[in-house]
Amino acid sequence: MSDFANALQTGHPNARHGWTLPMIGAVGLALLLGGCGKTASNSIEEDAAMAQRLQRVGTVELQVATAGGAPKTGEQAFQAQCAACHATGALGSPKFGDAAAWAPRIATGQAALTNSALKGKNAMPPQAGGALSDLEVSRAVAYMANAGGAKFAEPKGE
Ligand code: HEC
Repeated sequence: MSDFANALQTGHPNARHGWTLPMIGAVGLALLLGGCGKTASNSIEEDAAMAQRLQRVGTVELQVATAGGAPKTGEQAFQAQCAACHATGALGSPKFGDAAAWAPRIATGQAALTNSALKGKNAMPPQAGGALSDLEVSRAVAYMANAGGAKFAEPKGE
């Protein structure tokens, strides 16, 4: 029997490390509990990280669906693509809200004005040179003409 094992059994004061059986048991238990606790908290953190990743993917998909699925309103399309010229009357364009400038154009009718915006007219490029759909351009025409005194209905979705 080794000195150490002997000391464990007898609890002799001269035992080399001065360890007793209950002490070793306590240390073992502490290691065991510590180990368990660590494993448990790791997996909770991993679950949380996983949930966050899933949530992020879900959020992105939602935004893409909204951007692709809902056409802009007349006002949104105007702000995005038409205001660049029409807010100030740049390049000789009829200015937003200027009834005198819009009246003779409104008199030609909604279809003619929409056609001008879609195909372009003089200094105005087709589709205003942007990435709006035909529906969004035609809504912007109605929005802008109405601000100039027209009573056009904003075209609904296809
Ligand atoms: C690059 C500047 C520019 C942008 C951007 C622009 N326009 Fe114009 N727009 C003009 C000019 C210039 C005219 C006047 C054309 C003319 O009669 O010679 C005009 C005229 C118009 C008219 C009257 C057309 C007619 O037949 O009398 C409408 C309607 C119109 N724009 C709609 C729009 C809409 C809708 C948008 C955004 C989708 C837009 N414009 C963006 C420059 C622009």
